[in-house]
Amino acid sequence: MPHITFYKHEPIPMEMHKVKIVQQLQLLPTAQRLEKMKAAGFNTFQLHNGDIFLDMLTDSGVNAMSDNMQSAMLRADDAYAGSETFYRMADKLRQLFGIDHCLPAHQGRACENILATRFVKPGSCVIMNYHFTTAKAHITRLGGRVEELVKKEGLVSKSDLPFKGDIDLEALEACIQKETPANVPFVRIEAGTNLIGGQPISYANMKAATGICKKYGILTVLDASLLQDNLYFIKTREEGMADKSVREINRMIADLFDIIYFSARKFGFARGGAILVRDEALYHSMEDLVPMFEGFLTYGGMSVKEMEAMTVGFEESMDMDVISQGPQFIDYCVRRLDEYGVPVITPGGGLGAHLDAVQFVDHIPQEQYPAGALVCALYICGGIRGMERGTLSEERNADGSERLASMELVRLALPRRVFTLSQTEYVIDRVKWVYDHRRLIGGLRFVHEPKTLRFFTGILEPVDDWPEKLAAAYEADFGKEQ
Ligand code: F0G
Repeated sequence: MPHITFYKHEPIPMEMHKVKIVQQLQLLPTAQRLEKMKAAGFNTFQLHNGDIFLDMLTDSGVNAMSDNMQSAMLRADDAYAGSETFYRMADKLRQLFGIDHCLPAHQGRACENILATRFVKPGSCVIMNYHFTTAKAHITRLGGRVEELVKKEGLVSKSDLPFKGDIDLEALEACIQKETPANVPFVRIEAGTNLIGGQPISYANMKAATGICKKYGILTVLDASLLQDNLYFIKTREEGMADKSVREINRMIADLFDIIYFSARKFGFARGGAILVRDEALYHSMEDLVPMFEGFLTYGGMSVKEMEAMTVGFEESMDMDVISQGPQFIDYCVRRLDEYGVPVITPGGGLGAHLDAVQFVDHIPQEQYPAGALVCALYICGGIRGMERGTLSEERNADGSERLASMELVRLALPRRVFTLSQTEYVIDRVKWVYDHRRLIGGLRFVHEPKTLRFFTGILEPVDDWPEKLAAAYEADFGKEQ
């Protein structure tokens, strides 16, 4: 990573790539955005992409590909069985992770389905540093439970701790003893905790946690979907790691785990997924689930073009110039917002910038989905689409009461190499405006509430006419055309 410094300019992140293909954007007038938000049932998942100016919903499947990834797609070997593309992909993963067996799957949640189907029984307890929505849904679907043991500092929004995704080691051991090892099918460690601000986990913590699991004979599973960001943070933040190459750190992490799975919509910058299994017998015990749910064992529901692209993407993820772009832009965004007093998760993590909605709109009760309301406000005021990561993204308790999320976040994802610094500045500017007018924002309630993963398809409505008032204030400041 070159250290470009400036002569007169304040320090800013520097792109180590240039733009070769572009997609035209449009910014609808405020009044139309308000109408689109209503039509989308106040759920940003229901918006049409053409109605959005800056799509910061996710980094999943929307990262920019490199020229080398695109060109690799041309040599994809289409075959139902025995595709050379698959062998190239599995070889690259073997080279980088040192794990022999690879089960392909169409995306990360498909890997989670296979793992849960194979290991989870009614009453099982899966221990995690923190859950991810789909990982948890597959476990609970099968009658299992999730215990989240992230260190308590991980849930504090303002902090300067470098590794807020670390698991509480004492709690881990106590939980294994309480549950008994036989009832814990595996411990899942998420590198780059998605739901609590993309906060990384240290190598030291992964080593200690997997050490405890080994002592009790419990399988260790790494969710490596956000590993590229986590690798960057280990190299730049963890003591003793600066001199190691990303490749070395990657291998050190891999050596700790029995199973590694990932969404290649994130890791590998394409679209797909895979499960890497160290033990041959264990691999064979899962292989029948791939043809049943995904596709034959040499494509697993993925397009061979995507598999070729991700094979290059895995290699590019070992390059500091590539993996530093996301965290540096996120850090820039977080610092600017924090300086202004906007409640934002600090330090900046991976994936995106995360607004703390509990503080941002502290007048909205958690039962009225403050993060859900704030994310709608940002679309109305600026055409920016973010994602609610709070109570709306939880599922209700068995008795029907709300399970209030421990963190109530609006995620503004920064898909890698997609947005420029001026677009990032626009986002910062609009978030500041919304912050200064936050009292105009009100709550939401469900009109249609699905039982599972309700945040994807739920329909909501505002508790009063706050969206109209907010849009009017925005138009008064910026004019009708913005
Ligand atoms: N694990 C993590 C840590 C993830 O962030 C995701 C997806 C998955 C598993 C599931 O992978 O989407 O390919 O099925 N996260 C996306 C997001 C959806 O927007 O953060 P998938």
